Amino acid sequence: MDYVYGPGRNHLFVPGPVNIPEPVIRAMNRNNEDYRSPAVPALTKTLIEDVKKIFKTTSGTPFLIPTTGTGAWESALTNTLSPGDRIVSFLIGQFSLLWIDQQQRLKFDVDVIESEWGRGANLDMLAMKLATDTAHTIKAICIVHNETATGVTNNLATVRNLLDEYNHPALLLVDGVSSICALDFRMDEWGVDVALTGSQKALSLPTGMGIICASPKALEASKTAKSVRVFFDWNDYLKFYKMGTYWPYTPSIQLLYGLRAALDLIFEEGLDNVIARHNRLGKATRLAVEAWGLKNCTQKEEWFSDTVTAVVVPPYIDSAEVVRRAWKRYNLSLGLGLNKVAGKVFRIGHLGNLNELQLLGCLSGVEMVLKDIGYPVKLGSGVGAAAAYLQNTTPMIPSRI
Ligand SMILES: Cc1ncc(COP(=O)(O)O)c(C=O)c1O
Repeated sequence: MDYVYGPGRNHLFVPGPVNIPEPVIRAMNRNNEDYRSPAVPALTKTLIEDVKKIFKTTSGTPFLIPTTGTGAWESALTNTLSPGDRIVSFLIGQFSLLWIDQQQRLKFDVDVIESEWGRGANLDMLAMKLATDTAHTIKAICIVHNETATGVTNNLATVRNLLDEYNHPALLLVDGVSSICALDFRMDEWGVDVALTGSQKALSLPTGMGIICASPKALEASKTAKSVRVFFDWNDYLKFYKMGTYWPYTPSIQLLYGLRAALDLIFEEGLDNVIARHNRLGKATRLAVEAWGLKNCTQKEEWFSDTVTAVVVPPYIDSAEVVRRAWKRYNLSLGLGLNKVAGKVFRIGHLGNLNELQLLGCLSGVEMVLKDIGYPVKLGSGVGAAAAYLQNTTPMIPSRI
């Protein structure tokens, strides 16, 4: 293997997978265990109860599935819908595009509402579709809460209000992969029927666990949904939940202990403080981008994402070169522009277990790279703007007061 480990720490600022905190790494550094012993079900029981808190639900049923975000999508769709069902899905960037591709391959009748990349879901169009669908042919609305490719956050409360306004019974399926545990997310209050995330995002775990939460209405739908499902069948999980043994197949013991430690860290900081920290880091990043004289790919403030910022480079710069050089020269990992915005944007991920000084390190690296490749930036301009804001707004660390 080539020697790729540089001096010091890698500054991991892709929008997932993110840094894994030390207590989580230590909690996972253990042998395998018999998952049929009493210890693992006892641990699982606490995880299932506590995971509900990150979704802000009391009525939802969580499933911790050995998979990634893509598998969690499939689980949400196949457990609640039948082939041929009409679903409305928003295309606003690469991840919503991939989800739509999966929906089409699973043979749903997908009614796509497309927006320019950098804009949020077109909810006026949704209103129109709901208003005219008096026969209730739309069985589900699928929406990516935070489009990781463009740094756009959609307004889920408005989606719920529209469904209520038109008294429409469609299920609301939400990809919260780069939002849950970082952005304001309220499963019960917003009447979300299936919410899902992946372990490698804001939970700051290794990749490998899809975390899904189903509302009572979604569980009811799963009793009649005809999509073929085997590995992802919620029913298999529910049978084992009833028996108190929890696992229809072998879980990753290490990830379970990791999840316990990750949740403990989040609860120690306080979920609302975690969300406020993401808001602070997002704002600081946006101030830096503005100070560099660059544009945010996200076209309106109402859609600004607090977990990822896609920065538009001038036409004479290839954004992939920014990413390459950041890694080669400064040991800084930034996110590439994907698909339609490849070469045009680079992404700064600011989610998960991350603090103000780490972000400033990243921003100083970005400035140096921009200067390296011929963009006229004043070193310290973005870092100064972000630091001034953070110095004014960073609270005491909750556990150290
Ligand atoms: C919003 C969103 N949804 C889904 C996915 C797919 O998740 P995975 O790569 O874990 O399958 C990603 C991955 O980055 C994502 O950002």
